[in-house]
Amino acid sequence: MILPPDICLFSSFKNFPFRGLSYTKLLLLMDNNTQNYCYPLLQPYLPIHQKVVVPAGESHKTIDTCMYIWQKMMAYGLDRLSLLINLGGGVLCDMGGFCASSYLRGIAYIHMPTTLIAQVDASIGGKTGINFGGYKNQIGAFYTAQKVWIAPIFLKTLPHNILYSGFFEMIKHALIADEKYFNQLIHTPLQEACLSIAYITRSIQIKHVIVCKDFRESHERKMLNFGHTVGHALESYFLAKKKKITHGEAIAVGMICEAYIAYRKEILTYEVLHVVVKNIYIYIFHIKISLEEIDVLIQYMQQDKKRKKKVIYFPLIRGIGKGVIHRAVNQTLIASSLMYYRNIVS
Ligand SMILES: NC(=O)c1ccc[n+]([C@@H]2O[C@H](COP(=O)([O-])OP(=O)(O)OC[C@H]3O[C@@H](n4cnc5c(N)ncnc54)[C@H](O)[C@@H]3O)[C@@H](O)[C@H]2O)c1
Ligand SMILES: [Zn+2]
Repeated sequence: MILPPDICLFSSFKNFPFRGLSYTKLLLLMDNNTQNYCYPLLQPYLPIHQKVVVPAGESHKTIDTCMYIWQKMMAYGLDRLSLLINLGGGVLCDMGGFCASSYLRGIAYIHMPTTLIAQVDASIGGKTGINFGGYKNQIGAFYTAQKVWIAPIFLKTLPHNILYSGFFEMIKHALIADEKYFNQLIHTPLQEACLSIAYITRSIQIKHVIVCKDFRESHERKMLNFGHTVGHALESYFLAKKKKITHGEAIAVGMICEAYIAYRKEILTYEVLHVVVKNIYIYIFHIKISLEEIDVLIQYMQQDKKRKKKVIYFPLIRGIGKGVIHRAVNQTLIASSLMYYRNIVS
């Protein structure tokens, strides 16, 4: 399978082509986990560099952490020709990319994604950002990485729930664009699917092709937000309540709700809804939503970037491998979809 030249998969750390890079100073951004698990593997092959280490996790994807990173960039004297490398999961891809986009009006950066979600999704397509005011990715910029260097070998140290979180983005790619891929994914044991180079590559391709058609998310790229209107609300709410949920789990719940919405809007058959639900539900039935929480989640969605006036526009699916965008959905139907989810997991 062919990938564009700026996105490369590597089977060994020693193959990373650091020698071909040109920059004045090199800064490596890590979190405390990637410093422990990934940096020691990479260090022997790295050219001279400075380091900045931030605390791990979604709760640190904030302006305060960015200020710390910008301060380090200044302290190390990074100039316009300096290079930032983001060694981490989706949080560091988003936040490191954003810091690079804004420091001196933009310096070059490379993603070295270390979680599955980052390898198949967050590192591709130049969406950067941080959470703000209690909402996901409220501040950010479209700013593309100079290179994305992917070493699936990094995935070996991931806790299972973090690894599987990426699986749901792969399911999303398949649901919006490739029925054959969906069937392959659901018929492969979970762990094996997550570590499959062929599947990682296929997901990157799907995302890359969509991003190339619509970088600024005016049309087709919105499809990649399937599952994310409900999913982001759930993720923001759980984050505020300090309840544990991965990004992938949140969008998995979102995909079930949004597939139900597509069914109720008569663009998805009941049979296909059943296939989607059956294959996602088995991994997330432990995530419960109370009746009171349904109202709160709808309030979160009102703030969603896809909202126009009082209607929320959703990207949906009209079959497996067939995404559609811009479907107006009212609050009653959103509430019904959350009720539907509540019923299937209770
Ligand atoms: N920009 C995009 O297009 C896009 C797409 C999808 C997701 N995202 C964002 O990505 C984030 C979720 O990504 P994530 O799940 O990777 O989060 P994350 O970066 O917080 O990583 C999850 C956890 O795994 C740890 N970790 C990372 N690599 C490791 C390794 N190799 N071994 C052991 N531990 C490791 C991290 O320290 C962290 O504790 C969300 O903020 C989401 O909004 C962005
Ligand atoms: Zn996502």
